[in-house]
Amino acid sequence: MKWTEDLSVGIEIIDTQHKELFTRINDLVDAIRSHTCKYKISDVVKFLDDYIVFHFGEEEKYMLERGYPEYEQHRKQHEKFMGNFAYLKEELMKLEGGKKPGSYDLSVETNQVVVDWILEHIAKLDKRFGKFIAESKGMDRG
Ligand SMILES: [Fe+2]
Ligand SMILES: [Fe+2]
Repeated sequence: MKWTEDLSVGIEIIDTQHKELFTRINDLVDAIRSHTCKYKISDVVKFLDDYIVFHFGEEEKYMLERGYPEYEQHRKQHEKFMGNFAYLKEELMKLEGGKKPGSYDLSVETNQVVVDWILEHIAKLDKRFGKFIAESKGMDRG
């Protein structure tokens, strides 16, 4: 999965965080390819668990500060993703409870869930917010 300019929302701090998410997902993709993912998945899920909460929090804070009219709608999408992610976390915990480091299937599933969601969410909703910010900046300048 490659971060390209057309995924830029035009807000540097948010783009930087998105790039960090891409980097971590790509580490997982590499691990799947090299068949080391079952030892890597636990770290990836734990990292994402923290980082996604942080990232969503930052976006939502920024939206509130700027009086974004679609804040509530956007926040709900974040919440929905957290629900899907919680399922992956549970699956991982079940494996760990059974003293297994992780699994190939869970790695592939995590990859799919996160990649599909992230690309779609950034391309549609995060960019929509970026556009709102760009337009309101234009208005400030008169
Ligand atoms: Fe985002
Ligand atoms: Fe978002």
